[in-house]
Amino acid sequence: MVRGVSVIAIDGPVAAGKTAVGRKLARALGFGYLDTGIMYRAITWLALKNGIPVDDTNSLGELARANPLEMAGDPDSISGDRVSVAGHTLGPELRDSSVDGNVSAVSMASPVRKELVAQQRQTADKGKIVMVGRDIGTVVLPDADLKVFLTASLEKRAQRRWQEMRDRGEEIELFTVLSETLARDKKDRNREDSPLKPAEDAWELNTDGLDIQQVVQKIINRAGSTGDPK
Ligand code: DC
Repeated sequence: MVRGVSVIAIDGPVAAGKTAVGRKLARALGFGYLDTGIMYRAITWLALKNGIPVDDTNSLGELARANPLEMAGDPDSISGDRVSVAGHTLGPELRDSSVDGNVSAVSMASPVRKELVAQQRQTADKGKIVMVGRDIGTVVLPDADLKVFLTASLEKRAQRRWQEMRDRGEEIELFTVLSETLARDKKDRNREDSPLKPAEDAWELNTDGLDIQQVVQKIINRAGSTGDPK
C-alpha cells in the first residue's frame, strides 16, 4: 500500500500528537520508530547529573560525543520511551521537571545537535523508519519519502499536555500549561540552529478534532498516494 515509502519524517510543535501518532504509524507499517526528543532529553539529564551548565555549549557537545545513545527503534519495545546512555537506562526520568525546564537550552547547542543528527541519520540509513522531532524534514532527513508537519491549536495542545500531567499525578493549572506551551513554541521556532518550521515539501495536517487512529489513517493514505507506483 505504501510502496516506495521507506523513510517518514514527522515534525511539529509540542503536543501536536507526534509521538503517539509516530509510534502507531510505525507499528501499522512494520517500521522502526525513533522519537528524537528523548535523545535531547537524555543528554539534558546527563548534563544535569554531571553538573554541566546548560549554557556551556562546548562541554555539552563533548558530553554528547563521548556518550552515544542506545535506542532499539522498535515501536513495540520500550525503546520508544527509553534510552540508554553512559550505563544508565532512562525512562520516566526523561520527563522530570528538571529535564523539561532545561531541554530547550540544551537543544539550542549546535555541537549537541550536530552529534545527535549524525546518530539519527545513521538510524535512518537502514530505511523503514518513522522519525519524529522538530527538524527531521528540514535538516535531519531532507530526502525523506514523506514529510508530515502535524499541527493543532494552542488550546488543544495545552489541554492535551495538561491532561497527561494530571494523569501522571501532577497538580497544575491549565493556564500555566498554556503559557509554558506558548513559551516552548517560541523557543523552538526562534532558535538560530534548526528552528521548528515545516519543510517546503511537507504535508501539513491539523489534528484538531481527529483522534490518533484517524491521523494515522490519513498519513497512511497520503503515503499510499506518495509511493512510487512502479
Ligand atoms: O518532543 P520533546 O518535547 O520530547 O522534545 C524535547 C526538546 O527537544 C524540545 O525542547 C525540542 C527539542 N527537540 C529538538 O530540538 N529537535 C528535535 N528533533 C527533537 C526535539
